[in-house]
Amino acid sequence: MFHTAARGNGRDKFDNNKERISMLLLDTFTFICNTKDNSEATIFLAALLLHLCLVLPARAAELTIQPYLLKPGTTVMTVQWESDTLAEGTVIFRQDTKAPRVVTVKEPVKTPVGYEAPPYLYAATLTDLTPSTRYTYSVKSGDIVSKPGYFTTFAEKPDSFTFIAYGDSRSNPDIHKKVGANFSRHNPQFILHSGDFVMNGTNRGSWRTDLFEPLEDVINHIPLFAAYGNHERDGVMLAFYFSLPSSKRLYYSFDYGNAHFNFLRSTKVDELAWLDKDLAATKATWKFAIYHYPSFNIGGHGAKWGQGNLVPLFRKHKLDVSITGHSHLYERFYPLVPLDEPKAHPVTYIVSGGGGAPKYRAGSNPALAKSKSMSHFLVVKVRPESITVEVREIDDTLFDTFTINKKDGHYDKAYLASAMPEELVKLDKILYGNAKGKWSKLDFHLSKLPQPGQPGQVVYNYSGPDFDRPFKGVITLSKESQANYTMEPAEMPFSILNAEKSKGSFRLLAKGQLKMKKGHITPPLSVIYRVKIGTTKMAKPKTVSLKLRQ
Ligand SMILES: [Fe+2]
Repeated sequence: MFHTAARGNGRDKFDNNKERISMLLLDTFTFICNTKDNSEATIFLAALLLHLCLVLPARAAELTIQPYLLKPGTTVMTVQWESDTLAEGTVIFRQDTKAPRVVTVKEPVKTPVGYEAPPYLYAATLTDLTPSTRYTYSVKSGDIVSKPGYFTTFAEKPDSFTFIAYGDSRSNPDIHKKVGANFSRHNPQFILHSGDFVMNGTNRGSWRTDLFEPLEDVINHIPLFAAYGNHERDGVMLAFYFSLPSSKRLYYSFDYGNAHFNFLRSTKVDELAWLDKDLAATKATWKFAIYHYPSFNIGGHGAKWGQGNLVPLFRKHKLDVSITGHSHLYERFYPLVPLDEPKAHPVTYIVSGGGGAPKYRAGSNPALAKSKSMSHFLVVKVRPESITVEVREIDDTLFDTFTINKKDGHYDKAYLASAMPEELVKLDKILYGNAKGKWSKLDFHLSKLPQPGQPGQVVYNYSGPDFDRPFKGVITLSKESQANYTMEPAEMPFSILNAEKSKGSFRLLAKGQLKMKKGHITPPLSVIYRVKIGTTKMAKPKTVSLKLRQ
């Protein structure tokens, strides 16, 4: 007899308790039978226990994870599922009305050291498939038969195709489910996930609640490629569930049609060497990198991962688009190039951390084409001479779209003209810090209140990352303070290189008597500073109110 797998946390608890009670009754019944006490009361109790054992049957087996697809190819596909019992599994699959084929799996995938089994993960590789062909399938695990699924094999030479990209789907399964429910509508060939699938990657149960249940009716017909996020912790379960070589090697690449995809885990020397070689070898028209921490990011974490080593490699090998997450929002930068190399290859950077994790505040920056704090996903349409990215909100409404055209290896003029200097993003940190006001910034310390005839001194210093060349700027009195104060010099030039060398001082004179009110100086005293971008442009000014610090 077959049972269609059904689940539910409440039912799980009920069934677990029922099983425990049943076992306890059975143990007690066995104990009483062994006492050799043949009194009426004992016989009655034994009979009652036996009756209860029979009316409380043990829990039925179930699929703890419904079948999902991995490692698609022109002639292969992997189907994986998880069961709470050891049971031989079969994948029954067929093409149209042809006779069904069967792949049998006797043993589960080896459970990683330090993790418990059950549940047991099973993997079946379907081979000798026909390219560009739709198959239907279902999994039989012991007596249980899964919901039916389907898939379409990769085309041998696809001209055009669509994929979905998103990330940070942890912690809110309901939102994740709603985001994922839109995917099929766009008919994608596959899904790319930039990491943070679950709150805690070492907790096996949360893979089920945060990922496999919300995507149950999605990844049974669209294969998913995974990148590592920091919430995957040791990465062991990521490697396990996505059949990656090991938790120590969570980077890889694959090609589909005229596109190449690199999944990155770290900026360690060996991985960078692999990336350099891998990108050099590909002849693909379009190159995408998918990884977790953004290289350029304003809101949320304000990440700048790999600016010193990944970003130069991207330029060297003409990467088109970087897709990341980690900050739970959407950001699209104009294509970025270094300030000193305006003719360098521009790269478009997208932060897409909208899969369901708690949303972060978005920021603003002149290098940002679009940004918003929202749940969302990307629909990327790849064609021979263009890629179009659609950014869709949780209800599938279009928030942003852009197209990159490339012919014979050259971008069109409009795209090249839209490029912005990377320094616009780097300077944002200097001027504003991250969204919480932390990290790099200029601090001002007024050690003595200025009085008529008695100047006060302001010391400024920079705290933040080192730069490889100095950024220059100027400090002046704010407009509102000019009526009551003077500054010596009136314009104080400064230079930011690192915390050690980026400090200085200037004097302030008051035109009248000052007062202190609740720690604030009256009349108000504030300075503004601006940082130069290139030789002519000045970044947006930053105003700082001065307080007395002794
Ligand atoms: Fe993250």
